[in-house]
Amino acid sequence: MPSSQSEWDAKHRLTAEASASEPASIVRELLPILPSGPALDIACGSGRHTLLLAARGQHVTAVDWSGAALGILETRAWSVGVPVRRILSLDRAARSSHGGVALMQADLERVQIPERSYDLILCIQYLQRSLFPQIPGALRPGGVLLFETYTRAQLDFTGGPRNPAHLLESGELREAFPQLGVLFYRELRAGQGIASLLARKPGQKG
Ligand SMILES: C[S@@+](CC[C@H](N)C(=O)[O-])C[C@H]1O[C@@H](n2cnc3c(N)ncnc32)[C@H](O)[C@@H]1O
Repeated sequence: MPSSQSEWDAKHRLTAEASASEPASIVRELLPILPSGPALDIACGSGRHTLLLAARGQHVTAVDWSGAALGILETRAWSVGVPVRRILSLDRAARSSHGGVALMQADLERVQIPERSYDLILCIQYLQRSLFPQIPGALRPGGVLLFETYTRAQLDFTGGPRNPAHLLESGELREAFPQLGVLFYRELRAGQGIASLLARKPGQKG
């Protein structure tokens, strides 16, 4: 598993040559019940989920530190007629309610996510615990978080992160956002070790 920005760039270039990857099955399965307002895709990679959401007319702000990944995402978006623009800060993008994709290249360790800005936040195959306290505040009332990433159970299988800092403890994700109401939670230890959470911020959508 890559760890630095340049390693991620190289991996994204390599996988883009192979094929465009399919969305995670949980995103595809839950898509019909996910809010369609402004979305944030945390560590979007080459945009398999960003593009899925944008294809249904949703505005998506997509953040990743890999310039290679964002370049691939940008090319794929234009090729399917989804407007893309580059942004330098999340504040400006958060105000947009039109469709399309706003791309921000940034180290998420240094990003402040604006408050009450998104109806949907996706975080798939990325674990940065320092973002946990920001996520509930970044959702609008009634907004939803869909989070899925590897647990320590992944160590029993090939692939995925090996560094414990990038692996959830069993049960950790279910307890990570006490301000949100859990709609769905599961942990799998079959072929891979992953935890999945769908959680909603209390309140009515504005
Ligand atoms: C396993 S990929 C997942 C990509 C995407 N969420 C998906 O499911 O296809 C992890 C992503 O995290 C990005 N990443 C890792 N550390 C990062 C950081 N500190 N800031 C921003 N992006 C980071 C990598 O560039 C990579 O695109």
